[in-house]
Amino acid sequence: MSKLEKIKQQVVECTKCDLCKTRTNSVPGKGNFKSDVIFVGEAPGRNEDKNGEPFVGAAGKRLSSALEEIGVTRDSVYITNVVKCRPPNNRVPNTTERSTCVDYLNQEIAIIEPEIICILGNTAFNSILGGSEITKYRGKVVRKDNQLYFLTVHPAATIYNQELIKVLNGDIAKLFYTIAQLKEGKKVTVDIEYSS
Ligand code: URA
Ligand code: SF4
Repeated sequence: MSKLEKIKQQVVECTKCDLCKTRTNSVPGKGNFKSDVIFVGEAPGRNEDKNGEPFVGAAGKRLSSALEEIGVTRDSVYITNVVKCRPPNNRVPNTTERSTCVDYLNQEIAIIEPEIICILGNTAFNSILGGSEITKYRGKVVRKDNQLYFLTVHPAATIYNQELIKVLNGDIAKLFYTIAQLKEGKKVTVDIEYSS
């Protein structure tokens, strides 16, 4: 069993926080373990809870179309969430749930060693970098502890605000342009340096 499969198994069986009591299925990360980028959302929603896979509902469709528009398949990237079980009624996961579950995310990152981590929305921004106001910082490249991050809006936000479809799609295009530059060994502009 690969290291990622082991984590997947642990997530499936996990009872470390109270969300295990209300979930139908845990939702481990999914995708290419050699991906240059890991996408990180907030937590599973209803469809994800039902299927055990991340971003398979309406928000997932928005993410898929943003990728499709620049010719990137979902299978070629790795997609996960800060919290792996659905919070009741899709409430925002609380700090205990986030800090308990983020250990799995940190392990996924350590194994995949992505060039860049794409943060989707405020909850992931806050959990991973302690940030807030994603709409102000989206589109930016962040470096912290020698790891690059790219910030963008949560795909679900584009459902309520159609204007954000263009924003998300433009950001994802910039993300892959940045990845291409990194792969070519070119210097990329880091917009924000975080110190830990
Ligand atoms: N929203 C998220 O943050 N993650 C999912 O997997 C689905 C919807
Ligand atoms: Fe375990 Fe995370 Fe699910 Fe809580 S949310 S039970 S920590 S997998």
